Amino acid sequence: MKQAYVELRDINKTFGDFRASDHVSFSIQKGKLIGLLGPSGSGKTTILRILAGLETADSGEIYIDGRKVNNIPASKRGIGFVFQSYALFRYKTVFDNIAFGLKIQKWQKADIKTRVEELIELVGLKGMEKRYPNQLSGGQRQRVAFARALATQPQLLLLDEPFAAIDAKVRTELRSWLRELISTVGITSIFVTHDQDEAIEVADEIIITNHGRIEQIGTPMEIYLKPTNAFTAQFIGRPTIIENISRFRGFEQAPDHLKAVLRPECISVRKKQEKHKKYEASLEEGAVEQVSFRGSDIELKIRVKGSLVTAFRQIGEPEITEGEKVDLFFYRMYVLDGDNAYTITNQALTVEESVYRI
Ligand SMILES: Nc1ncnc2c1ncn2[C@@H]1O[C@H](COP(=O)(O)OP(=O)(O)OP(=O)(O)O)[C@@H](O)[C@H]1O
Ligand SMILES: [Mg+2]
Repeated sequence: MKQAYVELRDINKTFGDFRASDHVSFSIQKGKLIGLLGPSGSGKTTILRILAGLETADSGEIYIDGRKVNNIPASKRGIGFVFQSYALFRYKTVFDNIAFGLKIQKWQKADIKTRVEELIELVGLKGMEKRYPNQLSGGQRQRVAFARALATQPQLLLLDEPFAAIDAKVRTELRSWLRELISTVGITSIFVTHDQDEAIEVADEIIITNHGRIEQIGTPMEIYLKPTNAFTAQFIGRPTIIENISRFRGFEQAPDHLKAVLRPECISVRKKQEKHKKYEASLEEGAVEQVSFRGSDIELKIRVKGSLVTAFRQIGEPEITEGEKVDLFFYRMYVLDGDNAYTITNQALTVEESVYRI
């Protein structure tokens, strides 16, 4: 295996008697974009700050490009940082904000000009060089922050919820913009968010944090489809917790009193007259309690054997109304077994179907 570009080995950090990092270990390959995803207070910012040298770990080792950096000051670690709040210099123009780090490194005036112009072009702010931060939109300000972080050509870019203060629509635009920018520049990056859609869309790999610990590391698809612990299973997607799953058709083989997570994408909903092909014997009947238009699809709340589950229908499929009786087929559930989780598939599915059916 290739040597990792960034590696944290068994990092621990306490604030008083609060454990903000609890045996944190992970490694990142060069050029990857990693999403750090977890609830508020789970230790995401702490990990970035330790990596950047803004905070000292109580124990553990930090390596960047094969070099142990524990005793190397923040300014010498070759790291660019973009924070949640824009943190631009209010009384400096866009040009001077971006030029800041270069001036500190005592670059020649002409070189600064060339580099800043190149960055302004890269982040798409041409013509705005002379503006002040208060003359820019939130999205534009954050682009300036990216340009400033990239100016000195850092080897590692740390992004702490860079889009938190930006409204939903601009935020999705900026997400794909950032993804492209990072692959153009080819810089190894860690992106903190507590928005799972953002992490799933942007990251090559996701690290799930909880109570200072790392719960799971994997590609967005692995995290989504194969949660290996109870926290991830319940944190990702739109979970409904189902008690005693052996009472559902197709899951009779499960031991008694097992609890599981059931997600909307694991449920197929059919009107009574719609055919379910070969799954006929494994259908459950449910009563629709709520129908909500969600723009791109329809969300249904359906009562089945006492549990209220959430499912989706595509727009354009025959309409389902509140009070209607429908047929449900559950493809899979994620069993919660203490701290662990595992997948259980409907017995009616062949092995092949259970692998390919998402
Ligand atoms: N300097 C500090 N002094 C005391 N406690 C701290 C300090 N910094 C962080 N903490 C605590 O450590 C825990 C982890 O904080 P951290 O900022 O890393 O969480 P986070 O995952 O980034 O949360 P958020 O999503 O809200 O930004 C929190 O409970 C926080 O209160
Ligand atoms: Mg934070």
